[in-house]
This record gives sequence, structure tokens and C-alpha cells, in this order.
Amino acid sequence: MARLIVANWKMNLDPAAAIKLVTKLEPKIDPSERVEVVILPPSIDLYPLDETIDKTKLKLGAQNIHYLDEGPFTGEVSAAMLKGVIDYALIGHSERRAMGEDDKLIAKKVAAAYRNGITSIVCIGENLDQREHKLSSKVVVDQLTADLALVTAEEVKDIVIAYEPLWAISHGDGKGRHATPDDIRAVLRAIRSTVEDLYGEAGGVGMRLLYGGSVNADDCMAYLGMDEIDGLLVGGDSLNYEDFASIIDASDRENTD
Ligand code: PGA
Repeated sequence: MARLIVANWKMNLDPAAAIKLVTKLEPKIDPSERVEVVILPPSIDLYPLDETIDKTKLKLGAQNIHYLDEGPFTGEVSAAMLKGVIDYALIGHSERRAMGEDDKLIAKKVAAAYRNGITSIVCIGENLDQREHKLSSKVVVDQLTADLALVTAEEVKDIVIAYEPLWAISHGDGKGRHATPDDIRAVLRAIRSTVEDLYGEAGGVGMRLLYGGSVNADDCMAYLGMDEIDGLLVGGDSLNYEDFASIIDASDRENTD
């Protein structure tokens, strides 16, 4: 299976800066069947990037979608509107959960993505306090079960889960702690086995599982060497085209499946 490497730009780069970064990044990417690269820019960048990018090298995704296709929701953008431009949508990122998104809403967004032919990347992860109380797997499994509440066995094969412990995310301030493979292995296994319990072995095998949280060009190999994951979700380091290109390159080399 191709490794999935996703760049979460968060609220950075206007359209001119977005095009500049992609123009520098693309020559460094060798199109390969072993790596799929997705950029999640701010929504204002999606249309200009759609016209600019080399689609053999990059795909686009949204950082958020609304759960309905249209209506009186000031400031929101729906999956139905983005259909045709994006292949992926990030759903339930912890920075959006912190603004009040709950698992019920996230489940409806996952359904909206599927309805519109868009692959969900559902983010789950525990905070530091929960980790210190040895609740990581429980918290993450509860989130996962609630977030997939509307997903059928057929649909789960098209879902991507991103495990991003909150204590490891940099939030742009470089303060995230770099998790070691041993810090995260048990939770990653709990995620896969929960999907298998809910949907059978085929569901668990089909679902792609990413790790994210302060991943950078220096430590990406440690995660890429783990059997438990199918790719990476990269925030801060994806804003540096050289670093992000090295992560893509490392993923290509590491994936000998
Ligand atoms: P980070 O962000 O790589 O900057 O920690 C990851 C994310 O929040 O998706």
C-alpha cells in the first residue's frame, strides 16, 4: 500500500505564498506508486492550487468541512462545494475540537465527506493529563468509536485515521514533545484492533492509520519504520519545502511493500 504523507499547513500561507511553496516542492518529488502526498492548505488556497499543482505529484485536501451541503452557516464551506477540487478532508483536528467540535459533529462531517466522494482523515488523540493517568488508549478508542458512528463496513475502507497525541503537537511554537515509537505503539495497535472489532478484519486492514505530532525530517524515519502506521501527518515542518521533501523521500525509500 502506498504511504500517505499529509501536510497540514494550518492557517499559514496566502495564495501567492502557497503557489511559491508548491513550485519549489514539486521538482523535489519523484512521482511514485509508493507514496501519496496530500496538501491541506487554508481553503482560500484550494482553487489557485488546483489550477497550479502537478496532480501526478500532489493531491489536495481541506482542513475542515461543514456537515451539511448548503445552508445558513456563515463562514463555513461544505464538502459539496469542494467536491472535484479536494480528495481528502481533515476532520476533528484537536485545534478544532478545542474550539468546541465534539464527536457527534465529527461523525456527521465524516458522513458528509463520504456522501461527496471525499476521503476523511479523522484526527484523534489524548492530552497530557490523560496520558499521565494511563488513559491514552481508552480516550482514543472512545473518540474513534464515536467518530465512526455513522460509517458502514464498506465505507471504513476509505477512511484514514490520524493519531495525534495533543502533547506531541507543536502548535507552531515548537513545544510539542517528540514521541518515541514506544510511546505510541500501544495506542496505534488499539486503534487498529478497535476498527477490526467494529468492522471485521477487512475493515481494520483497509483503514489507513497515520501518526502526527511534531514529525520532522530528522525523526520521521523512526515512525516510518513502524509496522503500525501507513503514513504521517506533518504540521510545522510541511511549511519548509526542503524538510517536507526529505520526509516524502524518506517515505518512498522506507516503503518496500
Ligand atoms: P505539528 O502539527 O507537526 O506542527 O506538530 C501536526 C498537526 O497538528 O497536524
